[in-house]
Amino acid sequence: MVTVRPYTREDADAAYQLRRLAFGGPAQRSATPPEHPDAWRGLVADDDTGLVGFLRIWAYHQFFGGKAVPMGGIASVAVQPHARGNGVAGSLLTESLSVMREAGQVISALYPYVIPPYRRYGWEHVGTTELALLTLSGLASTPRSSVALRPAVQEDLDDIHECYLRTASTVDGMIDRSAPGFDLTWLVERDVVTVAPGPHGIRGYLNADRPDGKRLRAYDLVADDLDTAHALLRQLAGWAGTLTDARIRVLGHTLDLAVPGGLRRGLEVHDFMLRVVDLPAAVAARGWPAVAESKPFTVDIEVADPHAPWQSGRWRLVHEDGVVAAEPGGSGALQLTTRALGPWYAGSATAAALRTAGLLTGDPAAGVALDRLTGAPHPVHMAETF
Ligand SMILES: CC(C)(COP(=O)(O)OP(=O)(O)OC[C@H]1O[C@@H](n2cnc3c(N)ncnc32)[C@H](O)[C@@H]1OP(=O)(O)O)[C@@H](O)C(=O)NCCC(=O)NCCS
Repeated sequence: MVTVRPYTREDADAAYQLRRLAFGGPAQRSATPPEHPDAWRGLVADDDTGLVGFLRIWAYHQFFGGKAVPMGGIASVAVQPHARGNGVAGSLLTESLSVMREAGQVISALYPYVIPPYRRYGWEHVGTTELALLTLSGLASTPRSSVALRPAVQEDLDDIHECYLRTASTVDGMIDRSAPGFDLTWLVERDVVTVAPGPHGIRGYLNADRPDGKRLRAYDLVADDLDTAHALLRQLAGWAGTLTDARIRVLGHTLDLAVPGGLRRGLEVHDFMLRVVDLPAAVAARGWPAVAESKPFTVDIEVADPHAPWQSGRWRLVHEDGVVAAEPGGSGALQLTTRALGPWYAGSATAAALRTAGLLTGDPAAGVALDRLTGAPHPVHMAETF
């Protein structure tokens, strides 16, 4: 008999050993400083042999339509070998939905090693995190810039975060790095941290590491404007000679457009999946491109979600006066499976694509209206993995 309960501090060693078995790591748990108590919540599964399953739920906020939506980031899902194949992960995932709903985490994201268990419980692919290769000789023709640069100091941290947020909030899927588990000091504790001071705070920054004296690994290159992007790219160009290329995290769309020689995208790509946990609250929490449309319209949907029954049933999505709301009722013109909800909410897939994948049925005209709400399809992107 397996029971699922909240993780407590007494579970730390058993949970660590289970994670180590599943994902690797040193035999002894290191004495790292304790994480912020609100950074994540855990769930564990016990049978008569002890702890057999674990997962954690990180507390994040993820941008959709310019608003930071509370998101539960599921990670470290692991089950003891003897207990696998008996629904333990499924019980943990099902329980996580109630826990997230109660915590106001209206959506949930995760990076899967194995896909079927998460699909089975309603998560679906919506976006990626990506590392690109930047050929440094390709930066030689970067236009000269009038923007001055200087090394960052600790006091720049808030301005750096603000600068990050100005870009991140324009990209669906990015997290806002405000969570209690997010230690922002890493932003300025890299080998290279350069900022471009602007009239209000800073207008751009670059942080990078030299992991072994041979490579250059850039994390964020963020700029409010092209002139600042050029200044930061010229600084990267200065590494040509000692190095031929740098790895850089893709953050937004500007880099693709600003790098003269282009980026080699897709050096490393990880897919992430999304699930809607609490439909009406999730609808209220995100921003909607459709609010730019002056005419009100409604879309009637019917959701079948066996693992989150509170959002099963008919909903009318009402777009009116600059707001979108999910109200109970309506005709159920479109029928969505749980897995359809994530890609729809993120705007990563059109209703037509969801229909082809067997995740949505019903009135095609209502499908077109559903796409208008989110502006689907468009890329969805996250900088961090967890
Ligand atoms: C992946 C893991 C957590 C699954 O745990 P589990 O308790 O065996 O999973 P469940 O029995 O609840 O299975 C849930 C569903 O996923 C399917 N599933 C489970 N593991 C699977 C796998 N490795 N590949 C494909 N499908 C899998 C099951 O068949 C089941 O679907 P069904 O109900 O339609 O038959 C477990 O095998 C494990 O700890 N693996 C090592 C760590 C790991 O890979 N974790 C995933 C991190 S993203």
